[in-house]
Amino acid sequence: MKKIALVTGITGQDGYYLAEFLLSKNYIVHGIKRRASTINNYRIDGLYKKYYEKAKVKSFFLHYGDVTDSLNISQLITKINPDEIYNLAAQSHVKVSFETPEYTANADGLGVLRILESIKRHKKKKIKFYQASTSEMFGESKPPQTESTYFAPKSPYGAAKLYGHWITKIYRESYGIFACSGILFNHESPLRGETFVTKKIVMSAVKYYRKKNEILEIGNLNAVRDWGHAKDYVKNMWLMLQKKFPQDYVISTNKSYTVKEFIEKTYKFLGINIIWKGKKDKEIGLDKKNNKIIVRVNKKYFRPNEVEILRGNSKKAKKELKWKPTISLNQLVKEMIEYELKLQN
Ligand code: NAP
Ligand code: GDD
Repeated sequence: MKKIALVTGITGQDGYYLAEFLLSKNYIVHGIKRRASTINNYRIDGLYKKYYEKAKVKSFFLHYGDVTDSLNISQLITKINPDEIYNLAAQSHVKVSFETPEYTANADGLGVLRILESIKRHKKKKIKFYQASTSEMFGESKPPQTESTYFAPKSPYGAAKLYGHWITKIYRESYGIFACSGILFNHESPLRGETFVTKKIVMSAVKYYRKKNEILEIGNLNAVRDWGHAKDYVKNMWLMLQKKFPQDYVISTNKSYTVKEFIEKTYKFLGINIIWKGKKDKEIGLDKKNNKIIVRVNKKYFRPNEVEILRGNSKKAKKELKWKPTISLNQLVKEMIEYELKLQN
């Protein structure tokens, strides 16, 4: 019997990589996507063609839905009767969460509760549940952050995710549901959303490399992040649900870099060296070859409250799940640039 997985947030970065991984493991995958005024399936189009439209035996199905809609979620879970649910759906942008705090709480916090309640009431099968928690929950706690680090979120996103994280633990302990959270540090890929910093940097660097008239407008250059590759991280999601008992795990590379270092790496890859001038919101980056401004700090991208340093320690995952990241930051940057070079050809 093929296992059935239900994935929320299927149209997002991780949704694509997780669906690809589960389909390659012979799962039947059901994805929940939101209705939008324009079609936003571009990441999963290829998978849909291969595993639904052109397949003799179909194994990839899409359903309209929204984690803010209890009826929709409970009906889908009853109908699909999945073995595993991966909750990737979220308003996942930290800065946007300051502008849409109530919606973020509803989707990222209460959305988790809605799914857990449906699982609790589901009688046909014991469903395993994975929640995509985040290193943003650590907020101002000092690195390296582990499973036992104090949670101190600094954004509406972090607070909403902490509710989702905690309610997952509460349902596990109160009702014996196989429910667990991966505390995911930043992970990127060529399919990363365009308003996240790595993708934004890569897009701008390639534009400059091609046309020489692009300036990267950027926020906090000194923020430190632990960046991994989404492909490694989704494998871990699956591993966690194959364990005998549910537990939470930190998933990270254990290495960290500043935003400025990420910029330098990216441009250097394209043969462009940067000289920095000025301080704080007056800082600029010049192309060493021709003195052109290619990076400029813009206060617009500062956050009302910033998480300065994230660096995890995923030794529990290494020991108990035999998981470790396989793609280095240099490989990630290279892959993102090569993808962008093809796109902007
Ligand atoms: P993403 O690219 O922003 O994808 C988010 C997905 O959630 C999209 O498919 C989005 O649909 C969907 N979604 C948003 N609101 C929804 C709602 N109300 N109902 C149903 N679906 C909704 O994010 P990602 O990078 O793949 O991240 C996946 C999950 O991991 C998220 O929960 C994120 O918070 C968490 N996480 C990510 C990272 C990271 O570094 N990537 C780190 C820690 C945790 P649309 O396409 O329609 O917008
Ligand atoms: N997005 C963005 N845009 N970030 C910028 C910019 C900019 O122009 N300039 C500097 N930054 C800084 C942010 O202030 C932050 O410190 C860092 O770059 C990373 O920003 P994002 O790429 O937006 O990611 P994030 O760390 O806020 O959140 C991501 O990782 C979390 C896990 O730690 C998202 O994927 C979240 O969904 C995820 O939970």
